[in-house]
Amino acid sequence: MTQLETYISEHEPGFLEDLKGWLRIPSISTLPEHAGDIYRAAEYAVAQLKRIGFDKAEVVATQGHPLVYGEWLRAVGKPTLLIYGHYDVQPVDPIELWESPPFEPTIRGDNLYCRGACDDKGQTMLVIKAMESLMAVNGTLPVNVKVLIEGEEEAGGESVEAYVKEHPDRLQCDAAFVCDTHMPAKDIPALITGLRGIIYTEVEVRGSKRDLHSGSYGGVAPNPLHALALIIAGLKGADGHIHIPGLYDKVRKPTAAEKKFWEEDPLHINESLLEEMGVSQFSGENEYPPLERIAARPTLEVHGFTGGFTGEGAKTVIPAWGKAKISLRLPADVRSEEAFTLFERRVQELAPDGVVVIVHKIHGGEGMLVAPDSSVMGAASAALTDVYGKEPVYLREGGSIPIAALFDSVLHAPVVLMGFGLPDDNLHSPNEKYSLSQFFKGLRTVADFLQRFGE
Ligand code: BES
Ligand code: MN
Ligand code: MN
Repeated sequence: MTQLETYISEHEPGFLEDLKGWLRIPSISTLPEHAGDIYRAAEYAVAQLKRIGFDKAEVVATQGHPLVYGEWLRAVGKPTLLIYGHYDVQPVDPIELWESPPFEPTIRGDNLYCRGACDDKGQTMLVIKAMESLMAVNGTLPVNVKVLIEGEEEAGGESVEAYVKEHPDRLQCDAAFVCDTHMPAKDIPALITGLRGIIYTEVEVRGSKRDLHSGSYGGVAPNPLHALALIIAGLKGADGHIHIPGLYDKVRKPTAAEKKFWEEDPLHINESLLEEMGVSQFSGENEYPPLERIAARPTLEVHGFTGGFTGEGAKTVIPAWGKAKISLRLPADVRSEEAFTLFERRVQELAPDGVVVIVHKIHGGEGMLVAPDSSVMGAASAALTDVYGKEPVYLREGGSIPIAALFDSVLHAPVVLMGFGLPDDNLHSPNEKYSLSQFFKGLRTVADFLQRFGE
C-alpha cells in the first residue's frame, strides 16, 4: 500500500465528519433569509483550505453571495489548476417527502442523505480532502492550485461571472477542473464533454386593476391565467417542438459517433431514465433519441405558476395577474442572449388582446463543448481508469454549469468536468444523497488526477 493510500484509509471517518459539518449549514442561495448561513458555509470552506496549508484562503465579498478564493502556488515549474465548486444548495421543499431532516446528514446503507450531499458540497469536499491527503503525505502538492468556490450557483451565478471577467489575471491557469457532474453508474466512470446553457425567465401577465367577480365580469374581463395558458401552449407543442422562430438555427449537427451512441444506447441509460422518473414512456421530440434530447436539443419547461385562487374550496374570481416561471435549456452554440430575445418576441406575439405581458430574465448562462483530447483530460481519464479499473465513457450532460463556458472563453483554459454523482442522487429533490463509496473513490481519483497532471 502506498503512503497516500494508508493516509486516506485511516482518515476516511474524519473526512466524512468534515463534510457533515458543512452539510449542516443550510446554505440555500435563492432564499434571502439564509444569507447568514451562506456566509457561515463560506467561512467553513475557508477554514478547510487553511487547514491544508493554503497560503491564501479568504471569503471574497461580491454584489451577491460571497465567493471563497484560495491559492497554493509553490509547485515551481508545475502547471496551475483552477478548481471550481459551489457551496450553495437548492431549497428543500416539499419538506414532507424527506425521510430524514434535509440538513441533518444521515447515513443509510452506502448513502449519505442531506441537501447538498452531492450537489455540490460532497463533490467539492472530496477535492479538498484529496489535496489535504497529498499535502499531509508529501508536504507539497503536485501542481499549483487556485480554488474558487461559489455561493450562488443555484441562483444563476452572476457574481462569479463578474469576478471571472474582472480578474482573468488572478485566475490565470493551465486548466480548470469542475467536480459537479455525474457518472451513469457506480461502475461506469465518465468524463463530461458538453453542458447545456440556460435562460430562466418569469412571464408576468397583467389584466384588470383588481380581482373581479367572475359572474359580473366573465365575458368582458381579460384573464391573465388563461392568457398564460395560451402563451405556454403556443411556445411548445405536445410533440416537444418549440415554436420560437430561429431557435433551432444554430443547433450544431452532432458527430456520427455521438448520434450512434444516442441511438444505440449501449449503457441502457434509457431504461434507467424511465425508472428514475417513474413513468412508462418518454415525452418530447420523438424523432430524436431520448439521450440526444437531453444532451443536445433545446428544451422548454414551465416550472411554476402563481396567481388567482389556489386555496381549498371555490372562489369565483377573475385574477388581476398571473406569473409563470419558464426556462429554456440550450445546446452549445445557441447563445443565451439571442435565445432570450427570440423567446421574448414570441411570448409577446402569443399574448392575447387585453393583457399586458412583461418578460423578466432571471438568469442565463452558456453551454459548452469540451475538447476530449487535451492533456488535462488525458490525466483525468488515466486517473479514472486507475481507480475504477475501466476507461471512462465520454458523455454530454443536459444540466448547466455556466461558469465552465467562462473558463473556456475568458481564461482560455481547457476544462475538465469530472464528477462522481450518480443518476439517483436526487439532485434538487427530496432525499438528495451521495454514495459514500463514490465519495471515497472520487477522493482517490482526484488525488491521482492531480499527481498525473503534475507529471
Ligand atoms: N450540478 C448541477 C449541474 C448538473 C445537473 C450536473 C445534473 C450534472 C447533472 C448544478 O448545480 C445545477 O444545478 N445547475 C443549474 C444551473 C442553473 C441554476 C444556472 C441547473 O442546471 O439547473
Ligand atoms: Mn452543482
Ligand atoms: Mn444544482
